[in-house]
Amino acid sequence: MTDFHFYTPTEICFGKSSEDQLPALLKKYGAHKVLVHYGGGSAERSGLLPKIRTMLSGAGIPFVELGGVVPNPLLSLVRKGIELCRKEGVDFILAVGGGSVIDSSKGIGYGLKYEGDVWDFFDAKAVPQAAVPVGVVLTIPASGSEMSDSTVITNDAEGLKRGCNSDICRPKFAIMNPERTFTLPPYQTACGVTDILMHTMERYFSKSHMDITDAIAEGLLRTVMEAGPKVLENPEDYDLRASIMWAGSLSHNGLTGCGGVSDFGTHRLEHELSTMYGVAHGAGLAALWCFWAGYVKAEDPSRFESFSKNVLGGREPISAMRDFFHSIGMPASIPELIGRKATEEEIEEMSMRCSRGGEFKVGNFKKLGKKEMRDIYNLANQ
Ligand code: NZQ
Ligand code: ZN
Repeated sequence: MTDFHFYTPTEICFGKSSEDQLPALLKKYGAHKVLVHYGGGSAERSGLLPKIRTMLSGAGIPFVELGGVVPNPLLSLVRKGIELCRKEGVDFILAVGGGSVIDSSKGIGYGLKYEGDVWDFFDAKAVPQAAVPVGVVLTIPASGSEMSDSTVITNDAEGLKRGCNSDICRPKFAIMNPERTFTLPPYQTACGVTDILMHTMERYFSKSHMDITDAIAEGLLRTVMEAGPKVLENPEDYDLRASIMWAGSLSHNGLTGCGGVSDFGTHRLEHELSTMYGVAHGAGLAALWCFWAGYVKAEDPSRFESFSKNVLGGREPISAMRDFFHSIGMPASIPELIGRKATEEEIEEMSMRCSRGGEFKVGNFKKLGKKEMRDIYNLANQ
């Protein structure tokens, strides 16, 4: 096993009454003026935003609002948020939504404490030293951003999707009411299930590991693979929604990777698909994983055997995962994802961007340079 550092400072309020604790949590974490940040309308329609406005007004907590975060959140809105918060004297950001809203909030939080351009952090030109705190009211279990150290932003002017990792951005608190996820459409539910599985699998496929972490990871994977198809049949099953929601946070707060070396190669490859085709992150991961797995398997077949034995009831991992993705309505190749084959030029461009001009490798189970990236995209394009 590898030495590790595990830090997970986010306070979790989970359950049907969790939202009622919002004003107390904002006060506890020193919010004097709040930005309420949200997406395209689901939180308005569900009544969550009206409830939050009433609660904040009732508790005497001043706030301003900025909606309009799109999936794969944009740098242009992050910049707009920074400007608004500076003008309004905001000192706390409340993300009401999923990974896109949370990451946009984290980006604003970084930018408010930095004199330069916030993109510097995503372009590896600067390392964040401080951030305005973020709290979360989660509406979709998927990204794990509510507890993660990661922020993923798309530079809309340059067509680049980049991540920045720092413990500084980990949210102060996350409110999670599984009932709020009842309204998720089946496709978003399935994308979330896929992303949650992948956050653990990206850590599980490691050449160094420890038994307790493996057992936690395998239990999480089995539970989510069982709950995913069932929740598509019964979208208002509270216990299933709750299991998936909590798994989403545990999958990406570091717990399922302690003692191992994370891979995240499939994630890096996927970010180029989201940027190129505007697809949902979870669906992009499902389109790639089986081909990544086939390409890297020889590095350590025993890991695939453990995955088969302890998660998949002895089935062959690649075909079992392909069947699983199909069973929840996810694509399992690029043509299934985008409705046509990617062109040679598109694959070249995605490989160029992912490898930052051929100079950067991704993954750890097997290091992937530009040639290997191109190989995997081509395999996934059949
Ligand atoms: O915008 P609204 O109207 O709210 O609709 C959203 C959006 O269209 C909808 N939705 C959310 N909650 C809902 C709901 N619809 C009905 N009922 C609800 N309760 O779902 C759609 C997708 O939302 P989004 O926030 O984009 O989904 P997700 O949580 O999957 O976030 C995806 C983003 O997170 C990044 C991805 O790359 C992508 O940009 N990631 C962030 C990570 C992190 N910061 O740690 C890690 C991940 O690997 C991932 O890369
Ligand atoms: Zn992900």
